[in-house]
Amino acid sequence: MKTFYVTTPIYYANSLPHLGHLYTMIVADTIARHKRQQSIETFFLTGTDEHGINIERAAERAGRTPKEQADYVVEYFKQMTAEFRLDTAHGGYDFFMRTSEPFHYEGVSEFWRRAAKAKTPKGNDAIYKGHYEGWFCAPCAAYKTEDEYAKPAETGAPPTCLIHETPLDRVSEDSYFFRLSDYDEALLELYRSRPEFVQPESRRNEVTSFVSGGLQDLSVSRLRTSVSWGVPVPDDPEHTMYVWFDALTNYITAIGFGNEERERTVGFEKFWPALHLVGKDILRFHAVYWPAFLMAAGVEQPQGVIAHGMWLDPKGRKMSKTLGNTVELEVLNRHFPVDAIRYFCLREMVFGHDGRFGYEALIDRTNSDLASGLGNLSSRTLTMVQRYNDGRIPSGIISDDGLLSAKRTGVDTDETTISGFIEHARDQFLQQLEVFAFSKALEAAWSVVARVDKMISDAKPWDLAKDVHQKQTLNAILYRAAESLRWLCVLLYPIMPTATTEIWSQLGLTAGERGERGPGNFDPAKLTWGELAEGTSVGEVKPLFPRIDKVKTMKEINEVQSPTSNVQGQADAGSVDKRGPHRGSPDGVLVLSAMSAQREQKSAEREEHSGVHATEADAVPGAPSLETKPSVPTQHATEAEAVAGAQGVTSFIDITDFSKIELRVAEVLTAERIPKADKLLLLSVDVGEDKPRQILAGIAQHYAPEQLVGRKIAVVANLKPRKMRGYESQGMLLAASVGDEGRPVLATFTEEVPNGARLK
Ligand code: MSP
Repeated sequence: MKTFYVTTPIYYANSLPHLGHLYTMIVADTIARHKRQQSIETFFLTGTDEHGINIERAAERAGRTPKEQADYVVEYFKQMTAEFRLDTAHGGYDFFMRTSEPFHYEGVSEFWRRAAKAKTPKGNDAIYKGHYEGWFCAPCAAYKTEDEYAKPAETGAPPTCLIHETPLDRVSEDSYFFRLSDYDEALLELYRSRPEFVQPESRRNEVTSFVSGGLQDLSVSRLRTSVSWGVPVPDDPEHTMYVWFDALTNYITAIGFGNEERERTVGFEKFWPALHLVGKDILRFHAVYWPAFLMAAGVEQPQGVIAHGMWLDPKGRKMSKTLGNTVELEVLNRHFPVDAIRYFCLREMVFGHDGRFGYEALIDRTNSDLASGLGNLSSRTLTMVQRYNDGRIPSGIISDDGLLSAKRTGVDTDETTISGFIEHARDQFLQQLEVFAFSKALEAAWSVVARVDKMISDAKPWDLAKDVHQKQTLNAILYRAAESLRWLCVLLYPIMPTATTEIWSQLGLTAGERGERGPGNFDPAKLTWGELAEGTSVGEVKPLFPRIDKVKTMKEINEVQSPTSNVQGQADAGSVDKRGPHRGSPDGVLVLSAMSAQREQKSAEREEHSGVHATEADAVPGAPSLETKPSVPTQHATEAEAVAGAQGVTSFIDITDFSKIELRVAEVLTAERIPKADKLLLLSVDVGEDKPRQILAGIAQHYAPEQLVGRKIAVVANLKPRKMRGYESQGMLLAASVGDEGRPVLATFTEEVPNGARLK
């Protein structure tokens, strides 16, 4: 039997999980369920990373031992994964790994011993003892080189981590080193010979260029006197292993490396190599350090390392505990169905790219795609089967005598038109799933929802039901809709296991009369049209995704949301939570978070002041730019001008000047690259007019076309049309120009706005 092994990173046990952590689990769970549908024996691993100085410190702050701290976080993790149906009981992960498990100590010690005996590809000892002198970031659990920290403003103060903005620890002590510098060529050969090893491609390029730049040896131990909470180095217990050496090895110890009991219950031999899913923030550890460690220990390389993007808040900052802008799982769980959250995460984030999270966007997607989309299709189909065919799935066949009357109604009498459409969409769905393009896969599935909805609306079964001569036509439409639903259940099961199982049962398919199983037991590639049996009694029709009242829900969320988890941007980012630590901060990170939120707010303000630029101008060399060119203020004639100068504005326009510019909300309908124009994208946008407009924008180096489709942007609608590269551009979109290189960041909206709305 074929086997498959998928892992998430193991999560630091210093603080409670948030949406970012949940996301990797959702992705892994989706992949695992899809493999299981194909009867592939699958092992899905997640867990916690429990050693190291950061956990030691968090425990100390909370008045716990490190193990108690880890137990506390693990208990929450287990509750949360159960709530989100990601645990074993709900068909999710197979094992929750903890690096404090004795069998892990055994396995990782064996791994170290093997590496310590090994020679590098260049013939040197892979591990050697030396002295480390440098800076270490505890939250990153990583040593930092000069380009990875900010120098302190005051002399004598430590530098700060560029990611966490927290002070670094000075380390000067004896240490074991891993001779990473000898592995550069072997790693480059790995990336070259196995292009699928790091995905997506952009990340592979990043890793390749990092390694090509030369590698430094890595300190892989700390003195027990500095970090006591860790795995002792074999035969030298005065040292504890570097937490990443210990953590990465969990992927093999969890399934039996170095421990016979685990080997018997799971099987390293059976399941390795794994597919590792990671956030791009920890790609280097997985795609550089880990393969090198494995080479040294003589263990086969993983199947691949797949890196996803980060969830950002609406301001575009990475969601993290340190910044205090996380989406708390309890809030999500209280207000949204689990499947809506899964759907949103996979639909909204273009895999590999960063995605912004906003509750309003989640509500909008749930209402439009699930309540009005899939949910409505399911309930209207099943209600019609109840009403027009006594609750039984009719035959879909239009016999010769029914053909003529059917044709008269305009209904397509050829069933293969719709079945062919769905088969094609299924193939596209599977192709996209294979390359982790969940968003595109879901687009393909939703093309089926739209197609079947249209088929029903065009055929008007409620009219057909009034005419006895159209019974066969009516039945055919009902059958096609119900059979499409069955297909959708199988396709969408890995993404929405609960809702699809519910639709399946409402379709009457779980009664077991004909030995049916759930949608998780069918291989979507093997679906055959027409297997929904005539006569199946449909179950009770229950709503799947009740519409969410946006105003009410947002109010509730904002009322309970702590100021530090200010994702919607409603609360004051700089305020300190006066209610004391909440569940999201077991280690008292609150005050820190608020402070860092203030810092962030300031830097966001700085960015806001870096100007608005018109991207069409960027696209066309020499084209006039809207950007106000700084003029040297000579003498301030009026007070207003003086103030303007002080604020960095160079000259004022009056309101009549401004009113000449017609700025409007537009939705991007399509976006594509233009051959031989590497800066330009060709967009078609809906500006609320009869037909879409075409706009050329010079943003191709910063935005992938697929990132833009569906986005609401701001455009200058009354700009004289002009031709560029043979295409007419009928407007211009607005973007902030950030940094010295003027990186465009599109102006966008975080609240619902109709297309064509005027910006004033
Ligand atoms: N303990 C290490 C991993 C060791 S694996 C051998 C670690 N832990 S972590 O808790 O900080 O983060 C783990 C992972 O959580 C990230 O790589 C990523 O997969 C996920 N995410 C954390 N924040 C995230 C976002 N804001 N967005 C998306 N995923 C993020 O690193």
